[in-house]
Amino acid sequence: MSAKLILGTEIREEILEEITAEVSQIKAKYGKVPGLVTILVGENPASISYVTLKIQTAHRVGFHEVQDSQPIDISEEDLLALIAKYNKDDSINGILVQLPLPKHIDEKKVLNAIDPDKDVDGFHPVNVGRLMIGGDEVKFPPCTPAGIQEMIIRAGVKTSGAEVVVVGRSNIVGKPIANMMLQKGKGANATVTIVHTGTKDLAFHCKRADILIVAAGVPDLVKPEWIKPGACVIDVGVNRVGEKISEKTGKKIAILKGDVDFEAAKEIAGSITPVPGGVGPMTITMLMLNTLKSLKFKLGIN
Ligand code: GUN
Repeated sequence: MSAKLILGTEIREEILEEITAEVSQIKAKYGKVPGLVTILVGENPASISYVTLKIQTAHRVGFHEVQDSQPIDISEEDLLALIAKYNKDDSINGILVQLPLPKHIDEKKVLNAIDPDKDVDGFHPVNVGRLMIGGDEVKFPPCTPAGIQEMIIRAGVKTSGAEVVVVGRSNIVGKPIANMMLQKGKGANATVTIVHTGTKDLAFHCKRADILIVAAGVPDLVKPEWIKPGACVIDVGVNRVGEKISEKTGKKIAILKGDVDFEAAKEIAGSITPVPGGVGPMTITMLMLNTLKSLKFKLGIN
């Protein structure tokens, strides 16, 4: 049997259309649109391409968008002053500092300087705390976990009472998605296990999973025999395993592989996300949703 594919590329289009419609309604009624600033330090090619896509998407859904590029040698003090400026700017509802930052800048200090009510990445400790409490307290769930949960909901996968196993304990994916799946409510209420590099028997835990979420950063870590027949498999891995020439553009592009042996796993799973085209497109989509939410919180229309 071949698993149903859960395509982030398709779900993204549905959500972006919903956002565009809501932005135009808010604009008509309140005369305001969500504002997003992305701050990029230096010229890391991967960061440039992520930020460009974020800004293009913000433009597409009708946001006010600002791309603020800063030189690699900007001082920490100047970067903090820039964030303070956007914290005060009424036209900006979301501030995103693209990571990683150069070594001379303290990343934690920078993320903590963003107003938690404009922290659309959901990385500020206040928002991490809000996520832990759950329910109405949550303002900005981090984008990749929020995208994963949305895919699970829209694919119609039952979560209440399900055994969810999360592979990986990062602050950006593993810890927050585990936390979100165990809360009461829609797309959650699951029994959650987190496994990591200290776990004795990875296979044992993965085999029990009704929903297996893999964010380890190790290509083909999850073997087909670790997958329970009919399970939902969410592969968050984006591993660059080589380069090829793009048929579309004729340019060199990375060959990407997930953390799950996709070809074999799709014969066992009930549903599965591919790499690329699965979780990846959802991250930027949820950033747009968080930025829209930020304006709605400000206008008191949630
Ligand atoms: N760098 C890679 N992923 C991300 C992300 O989700 N947010 C930010 N700010 N930087 C990143």
